[in-house]
Amino acid sequence: MSTVRPAPDPYAMPLEAIDMSDPDLFQHNQMMPFFKRLRTEAPVHFSPGSDYGPFWSVTRYDDIMAVDTNHQVFSSDHARGGHILGYEMFFIEDEDFQLPMFIAMDQPRHDVTRKTVSPAVGAENLRHMESAIRASCVDILEQLPVGETFNWVDRFSIELTTRTLATLFDFPFEDRRMLTRWSDISVSVPGSGIVDSWESRRRELEEMGDYFARLWQERTHNTEGYDLVSMLATGAETRGMSRAEFMGNVLLLIVGGNDTTRNTLSGSVLALNDFPDEYEKLRRNPGLITSFVPEAIRWQTPLAHMRRTALEDAELGGQQIRAGDKVVMWYLSGNRDERAIERPDQFIVDRRRPRNHLSFGFGIHRCVGNRLAELQLRIAWEEILKRFRTIEVVGEPVRVRSNIIMGFSELPVRLEPWAAA
Ligand code: HEM
Repeated sequence: MSTVRPAPDPYAMPLEAIDMSDPDLFQHNQMMPFFKRLRTEAPVHFSPGSDYGPFWSVTRYDDIMAVDTNHQVFSSDHARGGHILGYEMFFIEDEDFQLPMFIAMDQPRHDVTRKTVSPAVGAENLRHMESAIRASCVDILEQLPVGETFNWVDRFSIELTTRTLATLFDFPFEDRRMLTRWSDISVSVPGSGIVDSWESRRRELEEMGDYFARLWQERTHNTEGYDLVSMLATGAETRGMSRAEFMGNVLLLIVGGNDTTRNTLSGSVLALNDFPDEYEKLRRNPGLITSFVPEAIRWQTPLAHMRRTALEDAELGGQQIRAGDKVVMWYLSGNRDERAIERPDQFIVDRRRPRNHLSFGFGIHRCVGNRLAELQLRIAWEEILKRFRTIEVVGEPVRVRSNIIMGFSELPVRLEPWAAA
């Protein structure tokens, strides 16, 4: 797809002037040639001055893996700046209002907390959730307009992921879009158009706390429930959890489960339109959904980066990292690294090793919801392929302006059903 802004030339500037944190590059889908130059000429690259201060960009698959699997040296800890660029803005600015999340914790605290929520998105629980997700998916698909242009992001991607989260929490169905709202505000700063002030952000998140506290109270004896709230309210390790900790865990799952899967659902439609021969392969053989799903997750890489802070001096890719330095792992670049992935710039629905990607991270923070994400994508495409010959992209996608969320606010599409027999 073409972009509106003329593409900047990554070779027209000195290496040290490249700043991969510039969100405009991502909004206009112009980041890939920059990553390619960095992978070749400066795979561990230092940006001295960015809006986030100085930071290292790690762009090759193997170097990213080396950082991600070395939590002893590379920290995600909240107090050191957390797990993303700009974390300080979202989560440290409002000092009196802190929600502990295990994604921004180091060991041993990380593991203790992760263990408490992981059964909710583990294999056994997903078996319970599968039929509910399929019913939601079918209901949404059956209500989509056929032969008319509409925004796939809002009508399908957001709706399915929101309903899945509602199932995960057994959250009242009619209030489900509050989950989307809480997710959006938790990663927004005043002036972003989403929240006006730190006070209003905090007030809304407190409302979220009150809402979930009510659900918790109602479920303190619900030992049979397989929703996350009942599991936390009745679990021996978790029933004594503080309100802030409970809110932090709930919010982490809402945020983690929201933009990521949503944008892969949209990105997979765009990818199949950009590679029509692959769409035809999938149409003819829906059995390929098993390899198509991880390929779509690689292709979209819905989280472009994760960030760490070095706890001690370390050598990486021939560069000397100093204690306290910010280190950014660009999964988006690692997933296109020709040293690790065959024909990385091709979208291939029957790729031989489709799970060979970095999109879920590695190491102790590897995505706890990865099975739930794959399940939603599998169900979505099983049901889509049964009903529609093509989801045709009929206009320019609108991408969000972010160096972390690789996503869309609009994807205009038109559905073509299978011809009646
Ligand atoms: C395609 C979809 C998804 C992608 C690409 C994705 C990606 C990631 C990545 C890269 C991390 C690692 C963070 C780090 O290393 O700092 C992560 C962690 C996490 N994800 Fe996902 N995610 C997806 C879906 C989900 C879903 C559906 C949920 C839950 C409903 C979820 C919940 C979490 C949580 C709770 C963590 C923190 C794990 C920890 O710190 O131990 N994610 N995810």
